[in-house]
Amino acid sequence: MIHCNQITKQFPRSVKPALKDITFTVNPGEIVSMLGPNGAGKTTLIRILSTMIIPTSGEAFINNYCVKKQPDKVRKSIGLCIGSGERSFYYRLSGYQNMEFFGSLMGLKGHTLRKRILQAFELLDLLKEKDKPFMKYSTGTRKRLALVRALLCDPPTYLLDEPTTGIDFNSRNLIQTVMEDLKKNGRSILVATHDIRQAQDISDQIIILKDGEMLIQDKPKQLTRFLKSRRIVARFGEIVPIGLINFLQGLPEVTHLETRDIELVIYLGENSSLEAVVESILKAQVKIVGLSAGEPTLEEAFIKLTKSGVV
Ligand SMILES: Nc1ncnc2c1ncn2[C@@H]1O[C@H](COP(=O)(O)OP(=O)(O)O)[C@@H](O)[C@H]1O
Ligand SMILES: [Mg+2]
Repeated sequence: MIHCNQITKQFPRSVKPALKDITFTVNPGEIVSMLGPNGAGKTTLIRILSTMIIPTSGEAFINNYCVKKQPDKVRKSIGLCIGSGERSFYYRLSGYQNMEFFGSLMGLKGHTLRKRILQAFELLDLLKEKDKPFMKYSTGTRKRLALVRALLCDPPTYLLDEPTTGIDFNSRNLIQTVMEDLKKNGRSILVATHDIRQAQDISDQIIILKDGEMLIQDKPKQLTRFLKSRRIVARFGEIVPIGLINFLQGLPEVTHLETRDIELVIYLGENSSLEAVVESILKAQVKIVGLSAGEPTLEEAFIKLTKSGVV
């Protein structure tokens, strides 16, 4: 379980706080994804929860242990994956030797240590590479190794900072499967990510941070509905005529418009009529090769929200 109560972090000499009044809970068996542009405060929050830095105000608990008052207990309850591990692994040691080292720091030894390392390697499909020196690993392998380290102690709570950023599709999917398995086994997972698709697929809740503030905390489905706006995607047989763009932009229903060569994405305001807009498109007498309408994706909601800062 993770619980944050009005966490604020003001770094010395910074003008603005890196985090402002952040409150949320991650229950056992839940994945909470934290989205937000660079500098939003995601890593700062994970560093506070993992006792690396102290919050300026507010309190946070991991499995009911206080991050300020019981840091040792907190550290024993978390699996931490932070940064790509470039500087936190020994380059000349193999992946396996690195894990022997970190596992023994966590108090594991002998047969248990060996068994845990091999199980985690197998889970992340790293057995073939276990004896290669770390410096020869690809970015995807390094990211997977960082997760192996977090899994070693089989902790109840996971804090994962961008575990899938910048890696190949297979590694990403493998890491996603591991996160889903942890969830099934009742673990609590807080993950900072830029992978909106993944967040939408696996999360119980999504948190959107911007400039240290929590813009939104909601269920993925609720979040796409949140905007209540609808969207039409039209594909034409030719480049979208400028006359049509100008015309649509003038309609009261249309809040925002995007063009990509032959494609036009039209965002409509709350409760606006799809028919009126579709009618105008049909009237333009341009060859239409595709037309669809629906709710915006989380990605679109996210871009819109972080740009406008509206809640
Ligand atoms: N040690 C620090 N000293 C001063 N400012 C910092 C420090 N660490 C982070 N920040 C600032 O805090 C803000 C949030 O950063 P960070 O938590 O790394 O964001 P994210 O992980 O969402 O990209 C940024 O403005 C960053 O510059
Ligand atoms: Mg970060």
